[in-house]
Amino acid sequence: MTAFEISPSGGQLGADVTGFDAGAASDADSMAMIHAAFVSHGVLCFRDQTLDERQLIEFTRRFGEIESYVLSDYAMKEYPEILLVSNIVEAGEPIGLRDAGTTWHTDMSYISAPPAATILYAKEVPVGDDGGILGDTLFASTAAAYDALPNDLKGRLADRRTTHSYEAKHARRALEGKSNRKPISQAQRDALPPVDHPVIRAHAGSGRKCIYVVAGECTGITGVAEDEAAKILEMLASHCVKEEFQYRHKWRSGDILMWDNCLVQHLALHDYALPQRRLMLRTTVKGSIPR
Ligand code: SIN
Repeated sequence: MTAFEISPSGGQLGADVTGFDAGAASDADSMAMIHAAFVSHGVLCFRDQTLDERQLIEFTRRFGEIESYVLSDYAMKEYPEILLVSNIVEAGEPIGLRDAGTTWHTDMSYISAPPAATILYAKEVPVGDDGGILGDTLFASTAAAYDALPNDLKGRLADRRTTHSYEAKHARRALEGKSNRKPISQAQRDALPPVDHPVIRAHAGSGRKCIYVVAGECTGITGVAEDEAAKILEMLASHCVKEEFQYRHKWRSGDILMWDNCLVQHLALHDYALPQRRLMLRTTVKGSIPR
């Protein structure tokens, strides 16, 4: 077995994996340890990695079937499974998605089987004038947030469903000035119709209950009057991302960060601007229908 170490952050989420070469084959025991750490900690960081695109795809496949992003404008031409997340502009054109993660969210919750995990590989990280790294990513534990809800509300929310809409999310981010994406097209509207998910979903690996509500994206709760449902959804979305449930990732070039889209919501801090460059390669692992 390869010698590597898993060091939990000590908080609600997050563990560092050191001494593990994500570009090399690894044995079943090592992968079982990594899987178990991922289920417990929700966010894993593999430090000091030097992978090419093919190896990143292979690494992603060790966690399940790989899936491409719904909007393929910034998928790599030679490797469509990889999405470029970047603020870099070449020949006047952005090379990647610039506004990824500008609001708290969980990836692609507006599809019927959202990705189980997302992997982000840091190729370039922005550096501030004082030498500090910018562009941190924040994570919040949806399971810890669920545990902290009062019991009567937990009871009321059991078996309730809410509708997630890509169009609503897109409109809200544009309204708040947090997105520079073009207005949604009819083709995108047709490809991404609203979907229903449980308000509280069970984690497929651990069975832990997690709040599955995203600010600005969810409307209505089955069996609850419209006005009251809107208030509950706003409350749940802001409760989920309270500081006490958060973990902050400070990037280093060469980090491969992997997060669980049931157990966490995340937010990318856009506290940098060109000539400070940020370039991330992103892949996602297919998930199942939330239950
Ligand atoms: C994302 O939300 O997928 C991007 C997160 C980040 O860029 O840190």
